[in-house]
Amino acid sequence: MTDDHPAYVLGSTDLEHHRLMLQGHILRPWTERFLRTAGLREGMSVLDLGSGVGDVSLLAGEIVGPRGRVLGVDRDPTAVEKARGRAAGAGLSDTVTFEVTALEDLAGSLSFDAVVGRFVLLYQRDPARILRKFTRFLRPGGIVAFHEIDLTNENPSWPPCPTWDDSYALLAEVYRAHGTPPDFGRRLNRTFVDAGLPGPEIEAVGIVGANAGSALFDWMAHSLRSLEPALQEQGLALPSGLEPDEALAEALREAVFEQGSQVMGPIQYGAWTRMP
Ligand SMILES: C[S@@+](CC[C@H](N)C(=O)[O-])C[C@H]1O[C@@H](n2cnc3c(N)ncnc32)[C@H](O)[C@@H]1O
Repeated sequence: MTDDHPAYVLGSTDLEHHRLMLQGHILRPWTERFLRTAGLREGMSVLDLGSGVGDVSLLAGEIVGPRGRVLGVDRDPTAVEKARGRAAGAGLSDTVTFEVTALEDLAGSLSFDAVVGRFVLLYQRDPARILRKFTRFLRPGGIVAFHEIDLTNENPSWPPCPTWDDSYALLAEVYRAHGTPPDFGRRLNRTFVDAGLPGPEIEAVGIVGANAGSALFDWMAHSLRSLEPALQEQGLALPSGLEPDEALAEALREAVFEQGSQVMGPIQYGAWTRMP
């Protein structure tokens, strides 16, 4: 692994691929809103960077329809295999295809109407350089649209629930220790501008859990479980009373409701612009 290819902190396990699908389900409305507002339309060709198990590519495939096409690229071969299976299952194999490659290595004379991605720029050593590289794949007037995240929030619950707040802080801590900026959503304007792009439109939304049915508990539990090897590597531990097992979501839910708290998930950022 060279300096240009930092490891993906959440790993490549069945658990992580399952987590990506859960996350994709929770975030779909926001990603769809960002992509449509950015201008994604029927018939367009789209490049999805860091496509994982395919959620954003499949969503883009639904938007562009059978007259459009989507190429998802990811360096994780197991994730790409799962993404291909999901495209086939959804009857979208003709529209949505996937390629195993590191973003640093993708070359060629491909041309697209849009370059998109979700939770991928934050994992790059030099996100502006990656963005600049892929804007060269765009036609004039092409769309650049990214959905990123901010995992920093000093008061994510009220009344304060230490178990939730400490779990939330741990996400940011392990990302930081791994060299991945947990507040990347806040850096989108600078990243776009450093990539030579026009200043983007940016929108941020917060997802709030205020009842036991909220998906935030499963999401937090799955994230902490995927991060367990990274936590161990960094000498970090789950908040006291929590174990990285199947009961984790329930333990979080109980802790939050014992306190009668309302909790917040990570802030979701959408940023988009067009090539001159
Ligand atoms: C958090 S996942 C997001 C997956 C997908 N975009 C989604 O929202 O469901 C990040 C993905 O980016 C991929 N990735 C990160 N850096 C990469 C790189 N330099 N080249 C190719 N893939 C990369 C990882 O393998 C992982 O599948």
